[in-house]
Amino acid sequence: MKSPYRAVKVTDDVWWVGAIDWNIREFHGYRTPRGSTYNAYLIMADKITLVDTVKAPFRGEMMARIADVIEPGRIDYIVSDHSEMDHSGCLPEVIGAVRPEKVISSAVGSKTLTELFPLKTEITAVEDGETLSLGNRTLTFMETRMLHWPDSMFAYLNEEELLFSQDGFGMHLASLERFDDQIDPAILEYEAATYYANIILPYSPLVLKLLDKVTAAGLSFKMIAPDHGPLWRKDIGGIIGRYARWAAQKPTAKGVVVYATMWHSTEIMARAIGEGLAAGGLRVKLMSMDQVHRSDVVYELLGAGALAVGSSTLNNNMLPAMADVMTYLRGLKPQNLVGAAFGSYGWSGEAVRQLEEILAGMKVDLAGEGIRVKNVPDEGVLTRCYELGMGMAQKVNSRLSAG
Ligand code: FEO
Repeated sequence: MKSPYRAVKVTDDVWWVGAIDWNIREFHGYRTPRGSTYNAYLIMADKITLVDTVKAPFRGEMMARIADVIEPGRIDYIVSDHSEMDHSGCLPEVIGAVRPEKVISSAVGSKTLTELFPLKTEITAVEDGETLSLGNRTLTFMETRMLHWPDSMFAYLNEEELLFSQDGFGMHLASLERFDDQIDPAILEYEAATYYANIILPYSPLVLKLLDKVTAAGLSFKMIAPDHGPLWRKDIGGIIGRYARWAAQKPTAKGVVVYATMWHSTEIMARAIGEGLAAGGLRVKLMSMDQVHRSDVVYELLGAGALAVGSSTLNNNMLPAMADVMTYLRGLKPQNLVGAAFGSYGWSGEAVRQLEEILAGMKVDLAGEGIRVKNVPDEGVLTRCYELGMGMAQKVNSRLSAG
């Protein structure tokens, strides 16, 4: 019987030949409850070209999908747009099986690939703006350094106006539907935003520059083909617009309260701060780290104006669940936040200061001194928490009115 893994036609000349990972639930700290895909594309030009490969265990699936279109040994070129192992993990074996005339990557990519794998093949490095003739088709390469690795680049298939965007505009969503118009828009919106928040966020200034560069070059897109999730063929303007919005990180009237609690005192304080934020006019999300994942927190912070963080003190430190999420946030660098810290303690109470130090390191604008309480908060403490929430909201509102 023929393999059940079939290629999916993208355009007259381009086929999706990737793999579906229904079971992956974690991507270096980012929870992926809907699984993912590793997208690879076959361009059936005069020079048959494979754009990106898949994670090592999925090589057989990809090769079967390629074989649904052509005998894999007929591939002339392999382009590696991004050398992270979910797209290059099987590259050495694929090169060995296919023996292509050329393997192409960015200059940094060529170095990275040889550092990652014992490749015997020479990599042809291309520069920003360089073109590669595939005979009757042309690829133009665009460096996208640090989006999100130093090697990353886009490849644009000129005649089809199709952008191979590697991780950019992607999402972790396993499905047998390959195109955006086949999937619930609410799921697309949520998963694309979660992906942006968890992967692309720290490089937002570079996203804005890249979008300007694309606009200045006058490039138009009939399709965007990322390395994860569905291809964009209907809502191309929508996803580009959302990237511009997410990258700008303009605050909105929203406050997020993130906390971990031992005996509910810190939780009671979190709730009072939340009430104060709401009384000040913000939409509020309370997130107990006992109940949510760090990936959900960074998703909620996309577009938030305020972040309050709280922890009980355990053995002179913040609770492990807060250390986890704060480390994650410190790396992802959400911008333009008003903040505050709070927490209860039994005898030493270091957690609030530790949280404030991390917030300050993230350049969060502290709205007031952190609130610490020994054991259980009384009415006076809860009033201070409420007022701290109100104060944070006022600061966000003044920023919003100042534009
Ligand atoms: Fe999907 Fe950065 O790898």
